[in-house]
Amino acid sequence: MNVGAETSMGSLTLFWGLLLFVSSICVRSTHGEICSPSIDIRNDISEFKRLENCTVLEGYLQIVLINEKTSNINQEDFRTLSFPKLTVITDYLLLFRIPGLDSLSTLFPNLSVIRGLNLFFGNALVIYEMTSLKELGLYNLMNITRGTVQIEKNPELCYLDSVDWSLIMDSNVNNVITRNKKSKECDDVCPGIMEDNPICQRTLFKDNNDYRCWTSNHCQKGSADGAKKDDLMWVGGEESYIGAPFICSSLAGLMRGHSLIRIH
Ligand SMILES: *[C@@H]1O[C@H](CO)[C@@H](O)[C@H](O)[C@H]1NC(C)=O
Ligand SMILES: *[C@@H]1O[C@H](CO)[C@@H](O)[C@H](O)[C@H]1NC(C)=O
Ligand SMILES: *[C@@H]1O[C@H](CO)[C@@H](O)[C@H](O)[C@H]1NC(C)=O
Repeated sequence: MNVGAETSMGSLTLFWGLLLFVSSICVRSTHGEICSPSIDIRNDISEFKRLENCTVLEGYLQIVLINEKTSNINQEDFRTLSFPKLTVITDYLLLFRIPGLDSLSTLFPNLSVIRGLNLFFGNALVIYEMTSLKELGLYNLMNITRGTVQIEKNPELCYLDSVDWSLIMDSNVNNVITRNKKSKECDDVCPGIMEDNPICQRTLFKDNNDYRCWTSNHCQKGSADGAKKDDLMWVGGEESYIGAPFICSSLAGLMRGHSLIRIH
């Protein structure tokens, strides 16, 4: 074998190596989009449109002060509003004063990860003075990678004791969850309880060994023993790149085993 052949073998290996690398961080994408920078939705419900194609939001998402005066029509409008593509927010999610919104379960059914690369006063999730909110309902939220949670002054908000934050974040000691609807006035019932057939996992959190759910229809996902946590991991390198039909990004998704989940 001469030197030239060896060189071409070498570059062939490099080629396949690169191809393997690229395919491991790219996802076939027909509708997915990485949106950046941050999105601030305020004053008008039509502003939500800016979110419609986002799968990954590289930045923060703030939704504040939507139409306080016309809150009657809001409730209907909010029921139809949904962003099932949104899976990852890389900074934080903040909601403040959105009367009429009673759950986030339809709005963000697939939100799985809030990374907290940049935080809002240390927080990755802020729910503040949401007068109508009755439940969080973020039933696919599985990881807040960095930062704390502040859920405060939401007079109707229940299904807070039914969430085990330790399944979502490594440290929850600095979370502030206070001045919401009083626990004893809430009637949180996880799926199956009414039928005497509870289906959600039961965990010990804050001295409270209970079933874990986000709403009466949605159990909290995630493993109590940590064994399943490890098979959720980030894909990727430093750069983000979108080129149809692929979406490629360091932030593109979560791997479970060898397959990418939740981003299409
Ligand atoms: C979302 O994608 C559709 C179809 O490609 C496009 O018409 C629309 O303008 C996009 N919306 C935003 C906010 O980028
Ligand atoms: C969540 O995303 C998956 C895959 O993209 C999709 O099939 C599913 O319909 C979405 N969930 C909702 C409630 O839209
Ligand atoms: C969240 O994800 C990060 C990065 O993958 C991981 O280090 C951390 O342990 C996860 N936390 C939980 C509670 O799953």
